[in-house]
Amino acid sequence: MAKRIIITIDGWSSCGKSTLAKQLAKELGYTYIDSGAMYRAITLYFLRNRIDWTDDMEVKNALNEIHLHFEPNNKFGESEIFLNDENVEYLIRDLIIADKVSDIAAIASVRTFAVTQQQKMGHNKAIVMDGRDIGTTVFPSAELKIFMTADIATRVERRFKEMFEKNPNVVLEDVKHNLEMRDYIDSHREVSPLKKAEDAIVLDNTNIDMDQQLKIALDLVKQPIH
Ligand code: DC
Repeated sequence: MAKRIIITIDGWSSCGKSTLAKQLAKELGYTYIDSGAMYRAITLYFLRNRIDWTDDMEVKNALNEIHLHFEPNNKFGESEIFLNDENVEYLIRDLIIADKVSDIAAIASVRTFAVTQQQKMGHNKAIVMDGRDIGTTVFPSAELKIFMTADIATRVERRFKEMFEKNPNVVLEDVKHNLEMRDYIDSHREVSPLKKAEDAIVLDNTNIDMDQQLKIALDLVKQPIH
């Protein structure tokens, strides 16, 4: 039996990290964890409960009230996130959440809360996790680290199409602004900013399709570097 490994996929917003992570998990029979969903669910809780996230104590008290877990969706087999036992998988994809999530994900206590849980999920290996700091902070010793990128116009177009299917009122300029803003905040924050781990392999998918990117990643999994 092939050795069970940890695969990390980091990169800019909307460059296809979750698509590749899901493809890989399916092919390898691994568990896929969307770490961004955790930051989004925390953001939803903060917005709903009007938490002042500039106040450290208020943030710490709020985090004590938050329980997050993932469950596989019966129809598609993909995992969905639950916030205090409520399935919030679809709610957290809204632009209202995307607008605030980078600010909240930059708070040190929020990151400690999420990273501790993410590390526990990797105890048995056989996991593909995507995010911004998975190869650098969450699993610095992961056997395979991929850093994904794609040019900004391609990313905006992909995210716009995805959002337009759910909400035809979405505006292209708003999507572009949101992506640029998140890229900036995510890569400039003090705690665990988005950056390529030294030993990560760059995968630019601007000009390749989903099958090609899967093939490249599967070849990396097969390489005897782990
Ligand atoms: O992957 P995503 O777009 O769902 O992530 C939402 C936000 O969460 C993203 O703008 C940055 C933050 N994030 C993070 O800081 N660290 C991670 N490991 C994953 C996401």
